[in-house]
Amino acid sequence: MDNSESKIPEKHGQSRRTFLKLGTGAAAGFASMVFAIPFLDSLISQSLRVKLGKYVKVGPVMFLPNGIPEKMFFDENDQDAYIDQTERRDVWVVKDGNDVAAFSPICPHLGCRYNWDAQNQHFVCPCHGSVFAKDGKVLHGPAPRPLDKFSTKVQGGFLSVKWERLKLGISKKEII
Ligand code: FES
Repeated sequence: MDNSESKIPEKHGQSRRTFLKLGTGAAAGFASMVFAIPFLDSLISQSLRVKLGKYVKVGPVMFLPNGIPEKMFFDENDQDAYIDQTERRDVWVVKDGNDVAAFSPICPHLGCRYNWDAQNQHFVCPCHGSVFAKDGKVLHGPAPRPLDKFSTKVQGGFLSVKWERLKLGISKKEII
């Protein structure tokens, strides 16, 4: 039998095997990439969301009393590839004419929730006695910085705030 004839099918067999190996490898690589994308996306979007914050609709400004702090509640939807949950949040809102300021409800000292003292016209934290003015300034410590003010925007009569998680106990406002 001619030697060259017996080698041709072997060559074809080898190239077919090589082709199949490469094809399987490429398909496996592609599949792992496809499955990894939502996971990576959730990690990236989660960290970006925490770092950059996002505007969340809080409520209408029309009924806010002028110059009197009001606590407003809203739901924040936390959604990514794996998590879909809604959290109830609140902010202290102070309307002054056309300006609307929104403060984090968390005391920047160690994270207690402070209240508005209408009689004395200031905010008081029950935990260690920090006192804050209506505009957030520290009147008495130990709070190391003013109340944390969120960025706000009013569109169509609705207030939105840029919700952020902030570090506690330090003099500078720093996002976690
Ligand atoms: Fe508010 Fe300490 S947590 S004064």
